[in-house]
Amino acid sequence: MDTRPDNAPPTAIPQTLSSLGQSSPFEDSGGTVPEFPTPSSPPRYEILSELGRGGMGVVYLARQTGLDRQVALKMILAGSHAGSESRGRFRAEAEAVARLSHPGIVQVHEVGEHDGLPFFSMEFCAGGGLDRRLKTGPLLPADTAALVETLARAMHHAHERGIVHRDLKPANVLLAACGLAEGAAKPQAAVPKITDFGLARKLDDAGRTREGAVIGTPNYMAPEQASGKAREVGPAADVWALGAILYECLTGRPPFLGATTVDTLALVMGAEPVSPRRLQPKVPRDLETICLKCLEKEPGRRYASASELADDLGRSLRGEPIRARPVGTGERVVKWARRKPAIASLLAGLAAVTLLGTAGVTWKYLESEEQRKLAEAERADAVDARSSALLAQGKADRRSTPWRSALTESSWRPAARVGTFGCGTWSGASRCVSSSPPAATCAAWPSTPPAGAWRLEAPFRA
Ligand SMILES: Nc1ncnc2c1ncn2[C@@H]1O[C@H](COP(=O)(O)OP(=O)(O)O)[C@@H](O)[C@H]1O
Ligand SMILES: [Mg+2]
Repeated sequence: MDTRPDNAPPTAIPQTLSSLGQSSPFEDSGGTVPEFPTPSSPPRYEILSELGRGGMGVVYLARQTGLDRQVALKMILAGSHAGSESRGRFRAEAEAVARLSHPGIVQVHEVGEHDGLPFFSMEFCAGGGLDRRLKTGPLLPADTAALVETLARAMHHAHERGIVHRDLKPANVLLAACGLAEGAAKPQAAVPKITDFGLARKLDDAGRTREGAVIGTPNYMAPEQASGKAREVGPAADVWALGAILYECLTGRPPFLGATTVDTLALVMGAEPVSPRRLQPKVPRDLETICLKCLEKEPGRRYASASELADDLGRSLRGEPIRARPVGTGERVVKWARRKPAIASLLAGLAAVTLLGTAGVTWKYLESEEQRKLAEAERADAVDARSSALLAQGKADRRSTPWRSALTESSWRPAARVGTFGCGTWSGASRCVSSSPPAATCAAWPSTPPAGAWRLEAPFRA
């Protein structure tokens, strides 16, 4: 089974990406991030261990001494990452998350500065990242729907406060201990919480992102984000990323996966994802429809908001009809043609030629068929006319009662008499005459014809 998305013509990749390898500076840990010595703990905190690190920050498990609770402490990576741009972004993240309070978003406790570097403390999520959980395989469809519904409600909360995440992906979804997420019908095994608002943007702010610069993680990045149209990146880009997370939870792999970053971006911009049910036939049809609606290339064709996505996921969980409609065959053909215009116009030309040829042959066949039917009808008419004439002739013959004259005719040689009919030879030809007139007239016939004087012919029956 082909599990790669349909290949597409590489759409123009923004210049700013050409220098990026597959491990972009925006990707999470697991790559080649250099080791740094553990920094000294900020006052009132005691660093216990490292939880993880990404391109810019490092997160430690720490104890908040005054409150005696475990927290996650995010600090900026020292060295080249501590430049003014990184510090600005780091501070923006802290401020953005501090404005949010939602059970589906990791709660920030405190924002501060230590040794000239910014840090913030937040609630500790013991379950680790969703990316780690997905390494063991896809989730069950119902668990996936519940998880992404929680994330979508959390993102709607952020969008309503003017914040777009722009880097939603499994590594930025943490799993907390079990509990009841807002709006969820039953407790979830692990409550998902969104973290890492490092690339978040305030909607009312042109922001620090240059037009043409590509930020985010290619596998989960919306096409408008992949093409560097920073100003067009709004809540719909987060809806796309939620769809990509939904896809990966259902199938175990992201919807677009190229050999390199540039390949992945080309797929994001120009290819349709492989239907989740082709990868995992047990995925319910409704979840596939919801997922593919999030992954529509045009932002306007996705869910209008993250809460509409959450509502549809809720409907699918309750077994109610969902609002999203599956993409029909016609629409799929149009999409394919848009992606592959050269092949599409070639095929359209071929189809037109075939159609015209078939129409010509069909027209000729119908024409000759028409002529054949006409000739047949004419032949039938002629036969009818001849039959009618013969019938009329027969009637006229019967009216002239040829038997009467036949009997008086000297050349009449009666051959047989069958009931009231007679057959015989008359004027050298075999004839039959009807004796339908009164039987008395038949008495002229010998009751027993002299032997040899007659020949038996077919009895005449009227
Ligand atoms: N609150 C938290 N609780 C537990 N682990 C966390 C927490 N925040 C971050 N981590 C761990 O640290 C990693 C990096 O954190 P993140 O905020 O995504 O940093 P970056 O911006 O560098 O990607 C996460 O993938 C996760 O494994
Ligand atoms: Mg991260």
